[in-house]
Amino acid sequence: MSLRERLERAKTGEKPRPSRWATPRERVARESGATRFGTAGAQTESPVRIHTDSEESSILHPVRTFQEDPHLAVKERIHHRLVKEIEEELVERTASAEDRQRLAKEVESISIKVLDEEPVPLMRSEKVRIITEVIDDVMGFGPITPLLSDETITEIMVNGPYSVYIERGGRIEETSIRFRDADHVMHIIDRIVSPIGRRIDDASPMVDARLPDGSRVNAVIPPISLVGPCITIRKFAREPLTTDDLIRLGTLTPEMVEFLDGAVKARLNIVVSGGTGSGKTTTLNVLSSFIPTDERIVTIEDAAELQLRQEHVVVLEARPPNIEGKGAVTIRGLVRNALRMRPDRIVVGEVRSGEALDMLQAMNTGHDGSMTTGHANSPRDMLSRMETMTLMAGMDLPLRAIREQISSAINLIVHQARLRDGSRKITHLTEVLGMEGDVITMQDIYVFQQTGIDEKGTVIGRFGATGIRPKFLDKFEEAGIKVPPGMFVNYT
Ligand SMILES: Nc1ncnc2c1ncn2[C@@H]1O[C@H](COP(=O)(O)OP(=O)(O)OP(=O)(O)O)[C@@H](O)[C@H]1O
Ligand SMILES: [Mg+2]
Repeated sequence: MSLRERLERAKTGEKPRPSRWATPRERVARESGATRFGTAGAQTESPVRIHTDSEESSILHPVRTFQEDPHLAVKERIHHRLVKEIEEELVERTASAEDRQRLAKEVESISIKVLDEEPVPLMRSEKVRIITEVIDDVMGFGPITPLLSDETITEIMVNGPYSVYIERGGRIEETSIRFRDADHVMHIIDRIVSPIGRRIDDASPMVDARLPDGSRVNAVIPPISLVGPCITIRKFAREPLTTDDLIRLGTLTPEMVEFLDGAVKARLNIVVSGGTGSGKTTTLNVLSSFIPTDERIVTIEDAAELQLRQEHVVVLEARPPNIEGKGAVTIRGLVRNALRMRPDRIVVGEVRSGEALDMLQAMNTGHDGSMTTGHANSPRDMLSRMETMTLMAGMDLPLRAIREQISSAINLIVHQARLRDGSRKITHLTEVLGMEGDVITMQDIYVFQQTGIDEKGTVIGRFGATGIRPKFLDKFEEAGIKVPPGMFVNYT
């Protein structure tokens, strides 16, 4: 879509109207038999909840009573003027930062002109706010633009036009940010996905995409989403969390870091397991940083998130099919291809499906020291998920053969969880031992035990050894790696 079209589409022409898609509040009311909420602009509980707060900082605090945006009309006038006055040529040339800056300047000066003509003078802070919002609408990602540039925010969740949440410091908060209506959200989704050749419409109502800065985006629109168009953005951390950060955040202890560093250098095959957003990729990134610099690493991901510091790294990224449904490159295809690239280590961002089989085979056939992550609720659950994923490869293998592959391939499961207080902890370091009858055996080596919650809601507990010495310590010895003294002593 050209910027000119964008300008026209971004027009605040329409009056906010109750969306075709109910807000959760509306639905609850409807379901509980309450009368319909007031019309747009009502003081309380209007389905159109557009923020009006004038202090800059308040956009991140929930506003419980919602009002119509009092600046809607003036923004509309600005947009009309922009469409009329901005030169076509300036709008089309936005490739360079300079061009964009010129366009922003132009938008700003036209906005100022319109604002100065307003019969009722506006406060300076209001003017600044209006101009920023207009620029965000025309050139950025609309009302969520400030959230994208705020480094302290790690996740943005748009649940329809009138409900925007963020995650910051591990905690989820509601914001007072509102889109004008469902179409406004749709425009923003379109702006995210169209430059990378994806589309979202009735025929394909779900889409994965990435922002230019690498942030991961997922969008789902009605009729699949019943609350209006949804956007979920996992912000890409320009500076990924480091080992020291994880220690500071209480995810693990220095002792565990030393042990994991040894495990990576001793070439154990490691799976990081955990729930959604538990920090698996972050931990995998930290583990990968322990790989010696003289090794050749091939990384495989759906969307490149890992940020390895080593020099000798080949980064491969899977690709979804194009609009005609052709040209897909799967993680599985990439794992197979990676084996022909003489890797010392294969790091797969996440196993979700049949690639698990290829990964296990790679781990079992000389590509030890490989690492991946997987979605699971416990180390044991990770193993059964592995089984299921291996079956998805469609090779018709007997279950016992699959379990044997799993038990001989994987040495260590690093299980991570997002706790109630939003913190992430490595709750288990679990060794996969082998088979006993038809069952894969495993033992916990290190665990996090929660002992309580303090008055602020912070989880209290301690990391500690179970007292079991892992069998894979012989691999440490072979590689000449020392284990932290006392690492396996249970002090409780
Ligand atoms: N150890 C940690 N402590 C606190 N926050 C963390 C930690 N690790 C990751 N995070 C934050 O949690 C979010 C999710 O991290 P990450 O992408 O690593 O999780 P994930 O388990 O791979 O998620 P997904 O299941 O979506 O792939 C990020 O925004 C990140 O900043
Ligand atoms: Mg991940």
